Amino acid sequence: MKAIVLVGGEGTRLRPLTYHTPKPLLPIANVPFLERQLTWLGRHGIDEAVLSLGYLPEAFEAHFASGRFGDMRIRWVIEKEPLGTAGGIGFAAEGIDERVVVCNGDVLTDLDVTGLVRFHDERAAEATIALTRVEDPSAFGVVPTREDGEVVAFVEKPPPGRAPTNWINAGTYVLEPSVLRRIPPRLTVSIERETFPRMLDSPRRLFAQHSDAYWLDIGTPRKYAEAQADVLGGKLGLPPAPGAREHDSGIWVQGDVDIASDARLRAAVLLGTGARIGAGADVAESVIGPGATVESGARVLRSVVLAGARVAADEKAVDVVVAADARLECAG
Ligand code: GDD
Ligand code: MG
Repeated sequence: MKAIVLVGGEGTRLRPLTYHTPKPLLPIANVPFLERQLTWLGRHGIDEAVLSLGYLPEAFEAHFASGRFGDMRIRWVIEKEPLGTAGGIGFAAEGIDERVVVCNGDVLTDLDVTGLVRFHDERAAEATIALTRVEDPSAFGVVPTREDGEVVAFVEKPPPGRAPTNWINAGTYVLEPSVLRRIPPRLTVSIERETFPRMLDSPRRLFAQHSDAYWLDIGTPRKYAEAQADVLGGKLGLPPAPGAREHDSGIWVQGDVDIASDARLRAAVLLGTGARIGAGADVAESVIGPGATVESGARVLRSVVLAGARVAADEKAVDVVVAADARLECAG
């Protein structure tokens, strides 16, 4: 089965990290987010993914230059200007005349896609949306359903306090070719505001399945940090990164690292290959990227130090993300 992954967004809320690296290629516990997503899709029988690109396409082209990710074939299409979510799907689906799985490129989840496809088949649906439950649905697409899952309404980003339910669009869909044909070619169209609501004009086309699976939209700095903590905490299975080994309880290490004998590591911690932790440093509940350095006496707490970055000697990094190759040091 083929998947279309929407990765055209600019990731504005994660600036400055996303000025040079598109959100889907930012690492979550030392693994580019999109690789985690492709691994998840591969487990559910996806053998080809089409990336719907717009922002910083060169970064994806370089990352997937081989056209493969494991056993999966990777292709991409590049929008000249943003076509919106449905426009992006339609553009990526040109030449595809079969059922596809579509997912937003900024959701970390272990949703059961196989079960979603089964649910879709059982109802002979044209489109099926995965739903997850959140506390505040106002930043999402809100989707009330009947008992059998038939969608009653699709309300994108309702004003606070006005959502009819806490079940929201989880950003994973199964779409039949007939839905793809509904999307006018090469125009800007929103699947949330146009395509799905219009499907409700006729009964029994659009369904949605409720899920309790792990789910997180990584679009804000807080959520980006939360995703790392969840992965380190084993919420998506262990080890937290492929090939990581448990050096001590809750302390994970990839490849060769250099840890001073009097440095303190407090779970959960992940050290990327080539990471260096200096004398007397204290690292707790954090991810240290490949080739990153925590100098002597520095403290790193609930933080993410990306590849090649440095926390200067005796410096304190608490609840921060240090960008790749940056140096965290207070003036004076
Ligand atoms: N190719 C392409 N072109 N991709 C786009 C475009 C575009 O013009 N606009 C957005 N995307 C991609 C983004 O990169 C992201 O992966 C996905 O589409 C969703 O866009 P966001 O900007 O992240 O939307 P959102 O988070 O506000 O809301 C969406 O996701 C929620 C779940 O996280 C909606 O689908 C909501 O209904 C949903 O609840
Ligand atoms: Mg989003």
